[in-house]
Amino acid sequence: MGPKREQDVTVDEETLRKALHDVAGERLQSVRVKDGVATLVLEVGGMDGLTRDKLEMAVRDAARLAGATEVRVAMTAEKGTAERPAEAKKPIIIAVGSGKGGVGKSTLSANLAVAMARLGRKVGLVDADIYGPSQPRLLSTEGRRPEAHDSKMFPIPSPFGVAMLSMGHLVQPGQAIAWRGPMAGNALGQLIDAHWGDTEFIVVDLPPGTGDVQLTMLQKHKPAGAVIVSTPQDLALMDATRAIGLFEQGGVPIVGLVENMAGYISPHCGEESDPFGMGGAEAVAKTMNLPFLGRIPLDLAIRRESDAGHPPAAGDGPQAEAFLGLARSVLAWLDTPANNPAHRAA
Ligand SMILES: Nc1ncnc2c1ncn2[C@@H]1O[C@H](COP(=O)(O)OP(=O)(O)OP(=O)(O)O)[C@@H](O)[C@H]1O
Ligand SMILES: [Mg+2]
Repeated sequence: MGPKREQDVTVDEETLRKALHDVAGERLQSVRVKDGVATLVLEVGGMDGLTRDKLEMAVRDAARLAGATEVRVAMTAEKGTAERPAEAKKPIIIAVGSGKGGVGKSTLSANLAVAMARLGRKVGLVDADIYGPSQPRLLSTEGRRPEAHDSKMFPIPSPFGVAMLSMGHLVQPGQAIAWRGPMAGNALGQLIDAHWGDTEFIVVDLPPGTGDVQLTMLQKHKPAGAVIVSTPQDLALMDATRAIGLFEQGGVPIVGLVENMAGYISPHCGEESDPFGMGGAEAVAKTMNLPFLGRIPLDLAIRRESDAGHPPAAGDGPQAEAFLGLARSVLAWLDTPANNPAHRAA
C-alpha cells in the first residue's frame, strides 16, 4: 500500500487562483495544481525582503486553506530594477565619534537619531561599539533579536521612531567578545548592510579611539559626515582633535563639534555651574575652522532618563530642545547638496 496523504483534498485550479489573487493580486503570475501540490509563480520585482517574505507567507497560507496539500512558490523579478529605488538607495551614514571614552557619544547618538526622527526624517541607528554596546539599553530594545532574510538582518524598531541594530542584540548581555580586527569590521558591516528599507540616514555610534572598527567604517562604509563629541576639558579636547584628524585623513567631512556635559544644571535650583569648564569645544572648533553644533548641559535628568531607556530627546523637557537644536544643525548640513552624496546624485 502506497503512502496515503494526510489530507485527501483535491483543490481545483480555479478556486485556488481566485483565493490567491485575493492575496497577491497582479503579483500572482501562474498557478498549477497536480495531485494536491500547488506550484505558484510570484512576480516580486521592486519588493523589499520583508514585503516579499510577508507575501510568500500569505500566499502559502491561502493555498493551504484552499486545500493544497503542498505549496511550492517560485519568485521572479521581471520588472527589473527600475521599480526598486527604496532598497537600492543606501542610507546616508553619519558617524558620531570622539577621541576619548565616556564623553557621551552613545547618549548623544541615540538622542540625535530620535530628534532627527522627531523632525520628520526616517532615521536608523547602528551601535558600532561592538565591545560595549549600550544602545539597546538607551533605546529600550534590550533582549530583542533581529530577524534575518537573505542572510541580512532586519533592524529592530525602537519605541521612539528609530530602527536600530547593535551587537548587543546578537550576544547575551554581559558576554565578553574578543573580537579580532577583521571580525570586528565584519560585524560592523553586518549591522550596516542590513535591510534598512527606505531609511534615509543612519546614525552610527562609534567606539572611542582610532582602532579597527573606526578604520573599517571609514574605508568601507564611507560616512557622509562625522559629528565629534567632546567634553569641555582640555584633555578630552586634545583627543577630539585626534579623532578629527582620523576622519579628515579618511576623507570624511566633519559636520561639526558638540560640547557635551557643558555647565551643570543643579537638580535643586536649576542654576548652572561649570564643573568641567565650558566653551572649550567651541574654541577648538573656531581654531580648526569647523562648525560648532551646540552644547548639551551636564544634567542628571539626561543620565537618569537615558539609563531608564527613555531618551530625553523623545520627551518634552528642556533637554529635548537641546537635542532638537543639534538635530536641526546636523540636518541643515546634510541637506546642503554639496555635503550629501544622495542629493548630489539626484
Ligand atoms: N549631558 C549629560 N548629562 C549627564 N549625564 C550624561 C550626559 N551625557 C552623558 N551622560 C552620562 O555619562 C555616561 C557616559 O555616557 P555615554 O555612555 O553616552 O558615553 P560614551 O562616550 O558613549 O562612552 P563609551 O566611550 O564608554 O562608549 C552615561 O552614564 C550617560 O548617561
Ligand atoms: Mg558609548
